[in-house]
Amino acid sequence: MPSRKKSKKSAKTGNSCKSPNRGPLAGYEVLLCVTGGIACYKVADLASKLVQTDAGVTAAMTEAAEKFVAPLTFAALTNRQVFTDMWLPQVDYDLRHISLTDRADLIIIAPATANILGKMAAGIADDLISTMALSAAGSCDILAAPAMNSRMWNAAAVRANVETLKTRGVHFVGPDEGRLASGATGPGRMAETDNILKAAQRLLLRRPPKNR
Ligand SMILES: Cc1cc2nc3c(=O)[nH]c(=O)nc-3n(C[C@H](O)[C@H](O)[C@H](O)COP(=O)(O)O)c2cc1C
Repeated sequence: MPSRKKSKKSAKTGNSCKSPNRGPLAGYEVLLCVTGGIACYKVADLASKLVQTDAGVTAAMTEAAEKFVAPLTFAALTNRQVFTDMWLPQVDYDLRHISLTDRADLIIIAPATANILGKMAAGIADDLISTMALSAAGSCDILAAPAMNSRMWNAAAVRANVETLKTRGVHFVGPDEGRLASGATGPGRMAETDNILKAAQRLLLRRPPKNR
């Protein structure tokens, strides 16, 4: 990861607190990527907690994630536009998958589906989030919070993908063991949002914010 000079510029936060007592993540930019699992509803809580630290939070969602939670939820919580599509008409010809990862200090993928982990491991970039994950290389860290049924989590392909991603420097938090949406108990439950927040904070505070 390239080293970053400390900048006196303030972050372009649409959602940071205006209070003079700034939170611990003031100036940092988080790209919160939501993929399609039942734990999507918990990520709204994570978005709210991140905003309360004064991080700038931009949410992006896959098509599957939109089946679980409306983008409006994240727009309201972050006070920012939510990105769902690479192909929306743009007036500024901004390459969003590049500009969003350029600006981000950290990408959090939560919940991280088996599908996104597989796409990341294989280098597939066929939607906004997988493209951003690929374009994060050399620009910002990625923290994944997987959530899925235990049988999926234990599947050989998922195990191999997680190991591959770890060796490439992707950070993981969870999953926890516990009650799953199916009613079964086992590994695959998304880490508690407080633990995802703590992991994000640890990663972010290793470096000063980019402040782009
Ligand atoms: C009700 C329901 C719950 C699901 N929950 C999960 C989940 O927790 N984890 C997971 O990996 N996939 C889950 N899936 C499957 C994903 O939504 C599916 O693989 C999808 O293609 C993921 O797309 P994405 O990674 O682009 O968001 C679920 C599907 C349904 C219908």
